[in-house]
Amino acid sequence: MKITQHSITLRQPDDWHLHLRDGDVLKAVITPSATVFRRAVVMPNLQPPITTVEQANIYKKNILKAIPKGISFTPLMTAYLTDQLSPIDLEDGFHKGAFFAAKLYPANSTTNSSDGITDLSAINPILESMERIGMPLLIHGEVTDPEIDIFDRECFFIEKKLQPLLKLFPNLRIVLEHITTKEAVQFVESSNNLLAATITPHHLHINRNAMFFRGLNSDFYCLPVAKREHHRLALRRAATSGKACFFLGTDSAPHTRMFKESSCGCAGIFNAPYALESYAEVFEQEGCIEKLEPFASEFGAAFYGLPLNESSITLVKRSQIVPDYFEVKGPTNSPQRIVPFHAGEKLQWTISRELS
Ligand code: NCD
Ligand code: ZN
Repeated sequence: MKITQHSITLRQPDDWHLHLRDGDVLKAVITPSATVFRRAVVMPNLQPPITTVEQANIYKKNILKAIPKGISFTPLMTAYLTDQLSPIDLEDGFHKGAFFAAKLYPANSTTNSSDGITDLSAINPILESMERIGMPLLIHGEVTDPEIDIFDRECFFIEKKLQPLLKLFPNLRIVLEHITTKEAVQFVESSNNLLAATITPHHLHINRNAMFFRGLNSDFYCLPVAKREHHRLALRRAATSGKACFFLGTDSAPHTRMFKESSCGCAGIFNAPYALESYAEVFEQEGCIEKLEPFASEFGAAFYGLPLNESSITLVKRSQIVPDYFEVKGPTNSPQRIVPFHAGEKLQWTISRELS
């Protein structure tokens, strides 16, 4: 990593948690991710979800087709765990290289998760085989019981679901995705090195007030929902701690205005276009810009046992204003808008578009 007064050059990062969608939205959102990140773990919550090798292969092909020529980007595909999924098929997909990992959505925990797991104890055979073959389990860590306050759902999940699961499967490699609480930070840092967590840019920047600032702001609504300020501060300390169990995963999750502004608006924040700049701002504010490279470009690869990227990317200290929206072709060719995270704000860093 090379740090000067006006620039940082770091090993090219990877995004360990990304929603790319499909069709016209995929075409509209892939470029910023593919030009900045060398690899990305692609979430399988399409409609219908990615549950078979064939679906994963087709989805991967479509992603690769949508990438502009000359850009090296590797999508790492994931399987969506359902109550019906057979451990044999999952293993087969892992051995064939079609599935890099499997994603566990508790049923109805988030966007497109209605086919997720209804009873965690019923998938023990799946988890047993994943543990045996070394297939990583990626978890959306929230309980779904409507009786539990939405701001407590991550903590409940950790205590009631994750802890017992770790006891049953001590050798399973697990990523607790997009953590949002101080409790999650403490739990992950006190566990063994088979448990890690991704942290999004938005959870480092906003607390729950953002959703209600002068009105209802659905652009800041995501799941797990942003929490109180002290949780945000704990996440910032974790991300910048230099601890290898915390690494970058944007959870960039685009939704068009139509879906964000409806009476039952979708959860998800589209942060991909300025994700690295957004993280850089946090690391600089915390006075440890030198910790950005391990967080963004090393810890994730090490956790997954993958080689580090050889290419590098440069951020220059030049401010830029984030556009209010991006346009995407809608269902009847009508243009739709997707609002990015930091829309209308000034960011301090800009990516120099030359990879080396
Ligand atoms: C994600 C989406 O839109 O697919 N939404 C979100 O709020 N993060 C799903 C998810 O990761 O929870
Ligand atoms: Zn996600």
